[in-house]
Amino acid sequence: MHKLTKAGQGTVLVLLLLLAACGGDGESGQEKQTPAEKAAALDRGPRAAETMNLDDSLAARGEILFEEKICSDCHTLGESDIAPDLIGVTDRRTSAWLTIQITDPEWMSQNDPVTKQLIVDFDMEMADLGVPEAEVEPILHFLLRESRAAAR
Ligand code: HEC
Repeated sequence: MHKLTKAGQGTVLVLLLLLAACGGDGESGQEKQTPAEKAAALDRGPRAAETMNLDDSLAARGEILFEEKICSDCHTLGESDIAPDLIGVTDRRTSAWLTIQITDPEWMSQNDPVTKQLIVDFDMEMADLGVPEAEVEPILHFLLRESRAAAR
C-alpha cells in the first residue's frame, strides 16, 4: 500500500549506497589483516566453555558426528594419545578458534601459532575432513559435555 514516490525511491537508493559504502570500508579494513593477525584474533576473548549453554540434544548429535567424521580415530577424551586429548579443549580455546581448527585445519597449520606448536608437539597434522560449519556446533556441545563430565 505504501508506494514510494520517485523522490522517496531516490532517498532509499542513496541510503542503501551509503550503507554499502560503510560496509565496504569495514570489509577492506579486514582484508588488510594479515593471516597472523587473523589467527591472533581467533584466540582472543572468552573461552568456548564460558560462552556456551550446554544443549544435550546437540551434544548427542555431536557424539555421533565425532565417530562418523573419524575424529575419534585420532583424538581421545580423557587419555593422551597420538593427537591432543580433547577433554577441556572448550576451556582452552575460543569458539572462533575451534571452528576454524575443525573446518580448516590446514589454514591453522599455516597461520596459527597454537596449532603450529601442536603440530611440533604431536609430530602430526590434523587432516581436513571437510566438516561443514553447521556440524561444528554439535561437536562443540559434545566436547563441552564430555569435559564437564570429566571435571566432576
Ligand atoms: C588424522 C588424525 C586426526 C583426525 C582424524 C582429527 N584430528 Fe583434530 N587434531 C589432530 C592433530 C595432530 C592436532 C594437532 C595438530 C594440528 O592441529 O594439526 C589436532 C588438533 C585438534 C584440535 C585442537 C586441540 C587443542 O588442544 O587445541 C581440535 C579441537 C580438534 N583437533 C578437533 C577435531 C575434530 C572435531 C575432528 C573430527 C571432525 C578431528 N579433530 C579429527 C589430529 C586429528
